[in-house]
Amino acid sequence: MKFEDIKTVSVLGAGIMGHGIAQSFLMGGYPVRLYDIKDAILDGARAHITQNMELFSRNGLIRQEDIAPSLERLSTTTDLSDAVKGCQFITEAAPENLDLKQSIFASVEEACQEDAIIASNTSSLTLAQIGVRVQAKERLVTTHWFNPPHIVPTVEVVRSDWTSDETFNVTHDLLLKIRKLPIKINKEIPGFLINRIQMAMVREILDLYEQGIASPEDIDKAVKGSIGFRLASIGPLLTIDLGGLKLWLKVCENLFPLISNSKEPPGVLTRLAEKGHDGIKSGKGFYDYTNEFSKETLDETIRRRDREFLNRLKDLYWESL
Ligand SMILES: NC(=O)c1ccc[n+]([C@@H]2O[C@H](COP(=O)([O-])OP(=O)(O)OC[C@H]3O[C@@H](n4cnc5c(N)ncnc54)[C@H](O)[C@@H]3O)[C@@H](O)[C@H]2O)c1
Repeated sequence: MKFEDIKTVSVLGAGIMGHGIAQSFLMGGYPVRLYDIKDAILDGARAHITQNMELFSRNGLIRQEDIAPSLERLSTTTDLSDAVKGCQFITEAAPENLDLKQSIFASVEEACQEDAIIASNTSSLTLAQIGVRVQAKERLVTTHWFNPPHIVPTVEVVRSDWTSDETFNVTHDLLLKIRKLPIKINKEIPGFLINRIQMAMVREILDLYEQGIASPEDIDKAVKGSIGFRLASIGPLLTIDLGGLKLWLKVCENLFPLISNSKEPPGVLTRLAEKGHDGIKSGKGFYDYTNEFSKETLDETIRRRDREFLNRLKDLYWESL
């Protein structure tokens, strides 16, 4: 598949990730066929995409007059072959279930044109696992988006041992064209690049929480105002260069022996999960969403998050992508 031959994109699964991925391709100028198992889910996805485009427009990232034409390029279906027929780039964002993804990939290969690229948004599975029933494995690639996918710029483009150079490069270029920040991951390792980094940080944060070193509020505040603040603008390796390698070496020597190297799942997550706590989904996690953190507070927090994310997207990336 050549980059210029990609005319229509298919997105399979219209949940949290799928509808945002569809929005990104629509705003990038592509017609999108969005598939899910129920019409009601597709209607909800269309409504969310419309709201999110309005938000992009209010924040000056797209023009109001571009919203209607973008939405006209969106078609929805509950028929899988209809969803992929005539599409040159197909990406699944279905639940993280190996059997399901294997069966989707096998059905897609049967129904789609013979040179279409087939991508997965898996967080933790490999193409070697998902693509086991696919003949043309050179056309498979992972594109790992981050939530909310219509806003967060980075998409990890991960190749398996079989992914062809053409599939890898065309996928990268396609994401660049729709103003994402694609990162080539040359070897398929569990967690890819970003989840490994994130998990290393989470292990230490939860260990500090267990030790009672600071309150949840103060841990969140401290990280947002320091490494979070800095990393949005300069990456970790440039940060080391700016600080001086000798200093960083000294700090690593002093602290590495003291920080967590646990191989066990974090005790606090296990304990909370065993009590039925699931964060905002159940009303309790590190914060309480039932009392002081009411529904309105949560809605306002999410609205503020999206506003701040969009401002950051505009300031740091939108014009240069
Ligand atoms: N949520 C995240 O933060 C996140 C981040 C990166 C990657 N991912 C990955 O993206 C994928 C989707 O995650 P999500 O959070 O959007 O899940 P989700 O549950 O919100 O959405 C999944 C959608 O797939 C639909 N679906 C069910 N069966 C299907 C089928 N046979 N074919 C197509 N669609 C089907 C569901 O109805 C649902 O709408 C997973 O592989 C997940 O690991 C999620």
